[in-house]
Amino acid sequence: MRVSLEDFEESCLQCQRCDLAKERQHVVVSRGHPSARLMVIGEAPGADEDARGRPFVGRSGRLLDECLADVGLDQEEDAYICNLIKCRPPGNRRPSPAELKACRPWLDRQIREVNPEILFILGATATATLLECRTPISRLRGAWTEWNGRYVMPSFHPSYLLRNPSREPGKPRALFMADLTSVKHALNGVVSGLASDSSDP
Ligand code: URA
Repeated sequence: MRVSLEDFEESCLQCQRCDLAKERQHVVVSRGHPSARLMVIGEAPGADEDARGRPFVGRSGRLLDECLADVGLDQEEDAYICNLIKCRPPGNRRPSPAELKACRPWLDRQIREVNPEILFILGATATATLLECRTPISRLRGAWTEWNGRYVMPSFHPSYLLRNPSREPGKPRALFMADLTSVKHALNGVVSGLASDSSDP
């Protein structure tokens, strides 16, 4: 791993920027490939992730890995997987605005260090926070936007797919797979239908 990314991880693991530090078992930084062209960004660690110190290792993570594999992407080789915030909010509640603000510099630095071409953002909270826009995820998903020189594909969170497991066309799971297929095509050099202004998609 590059020294600057190692420095980032070491500092992140010591973080005391908000009260989540008091109750966490682990700071959950990342898994996957540190030089991946694709970064997958979820919301926040849950109980499994807090216990193991790795993102997306519970039921949502297993579903995410399965979907990545279904489009031919390897979770360890082809993606760097992380979250908007690095510590578990108690009871898996939504991160507070103060927690999001305190943690944001870590994500910004993580994106700079890994330098992915493509961000695949999972769920409404991560999308709204990263893109700073309030358009519902159901309208944002499926369309490419450009953010700070990177391609962004927002989609549903895997936990939403667990609650809506139907694979029928038009259902969340099928839409998620369509979004991930676009990501796979983009990694192969084909990005279609890029929205020109990410602030007003
Ligand atoms: N949900 C997330 O958003 N991230 C995780 O790491 C696990 C579940």
